[in-house]
Amino acid sequence: MNQTVVIYESKYGSTRRYAQWLAEALACPLFERKQFSPKYFAQYQMILYGGGLYAGGLSGVRLITQNWSLLSDKHVILFTCGLANPDDPDNIAHIREGLSKTLSAEMMSSIPFFHLRGGICYPGLSLVHRTMMAMLRRMLLKKAPSERSAEDQLLLATYGKTLDFTDRAALEPMLAHIRALQEAGSIG
Ligand SMILES: Cc1cc2nc3c(=O)[nH]c(=O)nc-3n(C[C@H](O)[C@H](O)[C@H](O)COP(=O)(O)O)c2cc1C
Repeated sequence: MNQTVVIYESKYGSTRRYAQWLAEALACPLFERKQFSPKYFAQYQMILYGGGLYAGGLSGVRLITQNWSLLSDKHVILFTCGLANPDDPDNIAHIREGLSKTLSAEMMSSIPFFHLRGGICYPGLSLVHRTMMAMLRRMLLKKAPSERSAEDQLLLATYGKTLDFTDRAALEPMLAHIRALQEAGSIG
């Protein structure tokens, strides 16, 4: 039995791409969150969950937080997919601060997190998301230029455009971590 599963929620496709690459590399099943019932958790030893970042929240992570009691004897690994560059430690700190609003202290300390970079296609955004990004831009324009972070500047410079930072190679640290766990615990 294959004991590892990849589950994801993706609104515009970046997380889906990473999830597909992961499942392919690990030769394991892949589910969209909406197609995964919590009763399926019993079949797996390692749960890899990923979602897009929206206003600091991890899309669909309720699947993990609301079913935490079913996961106590399993390896749970989360990956986030956002526009912020994960090579910048300030961005990682910011992402973790956002996650800590919905994940318990125990989840924050016990779950390994991996942060991946997605993209954005402004012309394809839903009306709600387009409005949110327009509000964010207006807010950033009110900041003094000297107070704008690198991410603020990137957002202002690329507002309205299409960006794609998805990169298969960015999965390598996560795959190395998973493979080490699989080898140590003979997880399939
Ligand atoms: C309304 C909105 C809010 C966003 N908030 C964040 C955020 O807080 N942090 C971040 O890094 N990226 C943020 N993004 C960028 C998305 O995370 C990025 O587009 C990601 O690739 C989406 O993944 P998905 O297509 O799999 O849903 C936001 C995008 C939109 C449209």
